[in-house]
Amino acid sequence: MDSLKILESLTIDEKLRLLNGEGAWHTEDFGGKIPTVMMSDGPHGLRKEKAGTSSNEAVPATCFPTASAIASSFNPDCAYEMAEAIAKEASKEEVSIVLGCGVNIKRSPLCGRNFEYFSEDPYLAGKMGTAYIKGMQDNGIGTSLKHFAGNSQEKRRMTSNSEIDERALREIYLRAFEMIVKDAHPTTIMASYNRLNGDFACANKHLLTDILRNEWGFDGAVISDWGAAVDIVKCMKAGLTLEMPDSQMYHTNILKKAYEDGEITEEEINTWALNVLEKIVYLNEKEFKYKEVDFEAQNDIARRIEDECAVLLKNNGVLPLKKDYSLILIGEMAEKMRFQGGGSSHINVPEQKNAIETLKAKGFDVTYFKGYTSSKDVELTEETIKVTNYLKDLKKENDKNVILYFMGLTDYIESEGFDREDLLLPANQISLLKEIKKVTSLPIVAVTFGGAPMDYSFEKYVDGILHMHLGGQAVAESVADLLSGAVNPSGRLSETIPLKLEDTPAYRYFGKDSYDVEYRESIFTGYRYYETFDIPVKYPFGYGLSYTSFEYSNLTIGGDAECPVVEFDLTNTGSYAGAEVSQVYVCPSKQDFIRASKELRGFEKTYLSPGETKHIKIELDDRSFFVFSTDTNVFKKIGGSYKIAVGSSVKDIKLSKIIEVLGEKYYRNERELFPSYFALQDKGMEIDKKEFEKLYGRKLSDLDGRKAGEYDLTMETHDIAKKSLFGKAVLKKIDKQIEKRCEGLSEDDSARKMNKTVIYETSLESMILLSGGGDTVKLSEALLLAANKNTGKAIARVLKKK
Ligand code: BGC
Repeated sequence: MDSLKILESLTIDEKLRLLNGEGAWHTEDFGGKIPTVMMSDGPHGLRKEKAGTSSNEAVPATCFPTASAIASSFNPDCAYEMAEAIAKEASKEEVSIVLGCGVNIKRSPLCGRNFEYFSEDPYLAGKMGTAYIKGMQDNGIGTSLKHFAGNSQEKRRMTSNSEIDERALREIYLRAFEMIVKDAHPTTIMASYNRLNGDFACANKHLLTDILRNEWGFDGAVISDWGAAVDIVKCMKAGLTLEMPDSQMYHTNILKKAYEDGEITEEEINTWALNVLEKIVYLNEKEFKYKEVDFEAQNDIARRIEDECAVLLKNNGVLPLKKDYSLILIGEMAEKMRFQGGGSSHINVPEQKNAIETLKAKGFDVTYFKGYTSSKDVELTEETIKVTNYLKDLKKENDKNVILYFMGLTDYIESEGFDREDLLLPANQISLLKEIKKVTSLPIVAVTFGGAPMDYSFEKYVDGILHMHLGGQAVAESVADLLSGAVNPSGRLSETIPLKLEDTPAYRYFGKDSYDVEYRESIFTGYRYYETFDIPVKYPFGYGLSYTSFEYSNLTIGGDAECPVVEFDLTNTGSYAGAEVSQVYVCPSKQDFIRASKELRGFEKTYLSPGETKHIKIELDDRSFFVFSTDTNVFKKIGGSYKIAVGSSVKDIKLSKIIEVLGEKYYRNERELFPSYFALQDKGMEIDKKEFEKLYGRKLSDLDGRKAGEYDLTMETHDIAKKSLFGKAVLKKIDKQIEKRCEGLSEDDSARKMNKTVIYETSLESMILLSGGGDTVKLSEALLLAANKNTGKAIARVLKKK
């Protein structure tokens, strides 16, 4: 279709209207004049809301393992296969763009949305994301790579300012996006809610134009996260293509006025509208390829993928379970399995088995006790007493009985919309485990669920731990596959599990009730921090056990100076077939500038039969020896000696060799400039604000310090409302509305918590956008006037008709 011709047929008003969506999920079609495009969430399944329903109910779809699980497969083919399977369902439902995948870096294990993101490491996230985008687009469905960028927390996600120094930004927070844009060419990028170094992501020219388009050559569309496009004129000028969802004329009118006032030109409007036509509306004119989907086959894919994702964290010999074992399953999560997270990624699954059924189906003798309830973290109940009495009464504790204890984070603890407060598991799960341990000496295997690291100090009570993550709808089948030994565990941790929260890199700066979010730990995310500063962890990045064992030998480093190739032999020395994930870390010698002691630059998953040896070749990433140099704002190769370390986790290095790399010297001595970055391992050491400001290279923002007269629509609804009597009264009404919306939901339902947080923490302008304009415009403006101490004007605003 000739987009230019179509453009010519549109009026100025229509062109402006085209710049934001129609309803929640579509592009504008002017009553059938042009085609409409539908988008749906993503990322680990299709969440297409049913047309014509007021609830957000979605059509049934397969739920695959979430991103944190997928990344732990360390197998990009899993991400490809999953995206391909989702594409089939999208195609059948005539959805053109699936909103995914999410590649934000896990800055803290507490981010409520970590389950939707791949890793703490940008290289791993980049590889997984590249495969996902290709898997979707190769099957004719568009993608939206999200959330661009610096959106590593849920707290105040719509209003806070992520302050990230340029080096950390380029090397850590943008790196996965860059890899994926260059290698997989996503259809669209979704600009996030937050501000990044001052400007909102949707209005951030440095991000959307200088870096994304000019440096990386991105040629697709940038869409806003839902309700994220505040200050629409600035957004459009910064490089936004399409605002989502429908702004109900609110922004269209603002753009029209800006045009009439000469703030934007007709030429600009033509370019913007043409972009929407070319890059979204007419991009995929092809027929939808798949008309039917075999849900059983889809479930098998979900199961096979999860089989590769689960991580065996501990095994003192109890696993795999012998065929004649009698299994005592304890914990409600054996029955109501937790397999996905809450929020926009929540899938309405067609079917789901539980572990009681799947273990029985494998031929085991199974006895089940609920033990605790997930919906409430209440103290020991009758159920608990039932469990302990049963165990006490077991006449002879023979070696045929094994306890499988199902435990993990609950929906209430972990979801989109809010962050966790600590790493703890619900207290009732831990106290029940302790009670069990008191009354029996039977072996206990913990089967854990959750989308982010939790406190594993209970490890001392158990003999084995199998971590399933949030493993998708087939998780119960995978539990049976892996515990029975039908499948040998091969997942490896894509995120470090710390010993305690206080040890985590952003602990001192994360989760504050503040608009100003300082990423003071800079490039030291995840294992980069623990390794560089010798902080002990519970389970390191890349770690995971197998039922077999592997041996590494004969390391050589070939290739050329630009792209070294690491070669070695890998042998399966045990008696089970299985897969090993070999990881290559590049370790620079100690230097006088801020630098991590180890960085993942390559990995490979290899399947081996018992006794088999394979020769492995891993080509190093072209950025392996590069650092972003803030003097000239380009990546530079830094010369010197480097250790190339091959391991089965970041801690367990099997082979290594030193090589000399020719390159430049870093341009400044940072040991003198930023001493605290070299001394982070000293317990309690905090990066001084002034020192971070120096590294950041500009003045830190003080959005918290805004006073009456300076408040604007970009501030949190709750925060603004608190500042006036009128606001407080409105807040009471809002609370009532939230109550009404949550009718029927229990006190500890995560949807209730998300509803409240989202409404409280939405900016006034986003509130207008998401609630469809109307009276919200009037109310938001009045709230703002009242907070700015213009009470009279606030009253007049409320009384005014429009
Ligand atoms: C989320 C996005 C999601 C969108 C549409 C937003 O609140 O941040 O990830 O794609 O809603 O549901």
